[in-house]
Amino acid sequence: MCGIVGYIGYRDAYPILIKGLHRLEYRGYDSAGCALISQNNQLSIYKAKGKVADLEAETEGQDISGTLGIAHTRWATHGAPSAVNAHPHVSMNGNITLVHNGIIENYATLRQQLEKRGYEFKSQTDTEVLVQLIDFQKNLRQCSLDEAVRYSLKLAIGAYAIAVIDRNAPDRLVAARKASPLAIGIGEENSEFFLASDASPIAEYTKQIVYLNDDEIAVIERGQDLQVKKISGQLTEPVVKEVDVDLSMLDKGGFPHFMLKEIFDQPQVLRDCMRGRIVNNIYSSATGQAHEASLDVVLSAVKEHRRELLSARRFIIVSCGTSWHAALIGKQLIEHFCRIPVEVAYASEFRYSDPVICSDDVVMAISQSGETADTLAAIQLAKQQGAFVYGVVNAVGSSIARNTDTGTYIHVGPEIGVASTKAFTGQVTVLTLFALALGQYKGTVDQQEYQEVVQELTNIPEKIELVLKQNDKIKELAQKFVDSRNFLYLGRGFNYPVALEGALKLKEISYIHAEGYPAAEMKHGPIALIDENMPVVFLTNHHRRYQKVISNLQEVISRHGSILAIINEGDNQVKGMVKDYIEVPQTLSCLTPLISVIPLQILSYHVAVARGLNVDQPRNLAKSVTVE
Ligand code: AGP
Repeated sequence: MCGIVGYIGYRDAYPILIKGLHRLEYRGYDSAGCALISQNNQLSIYKAKGKVADLEAETEGQDISGTLGIAHTRWATHGAPSAVNAHPHVSMNGNITLVHNGIIENYATLRQQLEKRGYEFKSQTDTEVLVQLIDFQKNLRQCSLDEAVRYSLKLAIGAYAIAVIDRNAPDRLVAARKASPLAIGIGEENSEFFLASDASPIAEYTKQIVYLNDDEIAVIERGQDLQVKKISGQLTEPVVKEVDVDLSMLDKGGFPHFMLKEIFDQPQVLRDCMRGRIVNNIYSSATGQAHEASLDVVLSAVKEHRRELLSARRFIIVSCGTSWHAALIGKQLIEHFCRIPVEVAYASEFRYSDPVICSDDVVMAISQSGETADTLAAIQLAKQQGAFVYGVVNAVGSSIARNTDTGTYIHVGPEIGVASTKAFTGQVTVLTLFALALGQYKGTVDQQEYQEVVQELTNIPEKIELVLKQNDKIKELAQKFVDSRNFLYLGRGFNYPVALEGALKLKEISYIHAEGYPAAEMKHGPIALIDENMPVVFLTNHHRRYQKVISNLQEVISRHGSILAIINEGDNQVKGMVKDYIEVPQTLSCLTPLISVIPLQILSYHVAVARGLNVDQPRNLAKSVTVE
């Protein structure tokens, strides 16, 4: 999952490319490169191992002129991170160059066939095969660059978003996509065009954006209308969308890292997420009957598609990583408020497990980026088998949002830090609204509980603000764990998925091994791990399971585990049992995850910072996983 940027127009391309790469660096950051075609059709290519900043150092004092260029920041799949394997890759004759996000699965076969025709390769990448193939097709068919790209992509198997330029065609940029995302920004009167893996690098220049669909090729000619055609050759009308990205969300707002900024964004973005979806009402949205003024949940997608949703025999939620943890909470919420059975599946397993999907099943796909390849494939499988597909997504206009039958955006704004934080609480908030709204239509929600939960949901942002005030205390506690090698996170009920999420956050950014576990499961094995060197984060703030959790806590205390407890404010019982604890405001059981996860996000952040690690761009990771 790499980041691609391209520009053709009247401005110097280099600064636009570099700024765009910085915006996309969360997608991959092990090497970077750019290519520029200058006024005299000179093709200059610069590549560096490491970050975009290393590429900038590489171009110092070099010729970076030109109003046509492409650039790339990489997350290595084929060929280790190096300047040679970095993109752009260039054809053997030095004319054509390309950047690519995705995987060409049959690259080895294509490479052999090209080697038989005298092509030599400098890198171990699958991508270099594509540029040589385009050059081969262009010479063989004596055709235009975009036709050569089209014939080549007919032979390629796999996922790709590519941008291609040719120094013999200095007024043209060709792009194409299959499974990997690609957006094209149209400048005023076609005076310039911007290309990127998502809208964030384009938003400051234009709001007119075309999202390429699978198997589409874009031919971008200087000063001409954008032309889009299918791999088959047939022309299609590009759909221009007005996309408004809040640019202030794209910088750190004075915080040292995007992750900490996004943790502190949560009170406001959850208010944004609930805005217009929790309304004062004198008429029940479900029954239409008048009742004394109260709160109501209105989700337009649930309202418009209540027939499909109410006739669901079963829900299957598919997702990955943090979104999978949100799905586990969604299961408990939907089963509790809608009394409909829910299964939760890792999308990567679901897509290859030949699952039984019935036409009266509803498949829900949860994704922050909206581009996760496994989740996208799980959606396509579900649709092929006739299921109705509901999306819970953050990235507006993303592939998953465009490939589901309907859905709800979580509206938490761009999430840049690789470790997901505000998207998790945004997903849980939307899943709560979804379960309440559908339960209301189904008549399976107790009205008193409905009012209590909706009212308390509106108090959650404020309660999160109270937890955020403990940032310094948590920072201090985190110092104790800088040298820990392992961690256990324990919780029950709604807090079990939070324990999993807390462990994932710590693993992702501090590289400390950590496991989340249902607290009562400890006795069945993991309790053997407990000794004074095993930090155990214990989520006790779940009042419906409180006594059970206390017994589990006792089991760990009696084996000298070093406990850090997340406790409800004023819980003197646990305060009397453990030395280290973080107090959080009490809330309703089903809303507990929205509070419990906050101290875990902050703890993992400070442990990683104390270990001197790059919190926003942890090693080996990328923000959206667009390859399987
Ligand atoms: C979470 O911090 C990770 N970045 C990762 O597990 C992520 O949740 C997973 O890749 C799913 O991404 P998505 O929500 O964008 O589909």
